[in-house]
Amino acid sequence: MKLTIQRFCKHRKPLKSIKADYEVPENSKTLLEALTYIKTKIDGSLTFNSGCRSGVCGSCAVRVNGKEQLCCSYTPKEDDIIEPLSKTGTIKDLVVDNNILQNTLKRVKSWLDKPSPITKMSIEDEKRIEKQTDCILCASCYSVCPVLEIDSEFLGPFALSRAYRYINDIRCEEKKSKIDALQIKGIWDCTLCGECTLVCPQGIDPKNDIMLLQSKSVQLGYDNPNLSNTDNLFGGFNPDF
Ligand code: SF4
Ligand code: SF4
Ligand code: FES
Repeated sequence: MKLTIQRFCKHRKPLKSIKADYEVPENSKTLLEALTYIKTKIDGSLTFNSGCRSGVCGSCAVRVNGKEQLCCSYTPKEDDIIEPLSKTGTIKDLVVDNNILQNTLKRVKSWLDKPSPITKMSIEDEKRIEKQTDCILCASCYSVCPVLEIDSEFLGPFALSRAYRYINDIRCEEKKSKIDALQIKGIWDCTLCGECTLVCPQGIDPKNDIMLLQSKSVQLGYDNPNLSNTDNLFGGFNPDF
């Protein structure tokens, strides 16, 4: 079975980026198994990430034929084209730079600010944040998001889902400051296209979380700037006038 892999190395000359074809065993059960075969039997310089080998750590996400997949879950097919995730910047071959992901989590204040007097949570309280807590930070949703294509400052789907998780946590006492942090380059910049939801291997729905954050923001008195801009387009038309 032939696989084509996008190779990248900043030290490679004259071409830093090339596509290379490899023959791997037909019975490779996962793409990670096929990549490991290439690295151990064909070309030891091929670089990729992996950890748990069971869909838990989120370190092995790549794009296959343009769609985000976990290498350890995906079964490769003839002529698949394997590329690194998009938007984060490639370090080497299929390894991307995760620093930008950590920075977005800091920007959304992805933590409980101070110890809460609430020391016990009910099952219902845990269920309210369970789904978002399942995020394995694979960055697949970040890679697919079309807004990040044009605006690298956009907070992006997983960071906004993580923000929702903390704002929805009964132990969180700083909900207002967390909501504040999402107003610029955050919830209102999302086009609600839903691409992030489609690629998430954990079944998380960042689009829905963003809509819920928009609703919470309006309840706290924030305006949707997109609606204000529409008003401006019509010269500040006031239907009540
Ligand atoms: S729904 Fe929003 S965050 Fe998700 S991919 Fe679309 S624009 Fe990005
Ligand atoms: S929300 Fe889903 S796709 Fe996005 S980083 Fe978390 S696990 Fe990956
Ligand atoms: S190696 Fe951990 S998710 Fe694939």
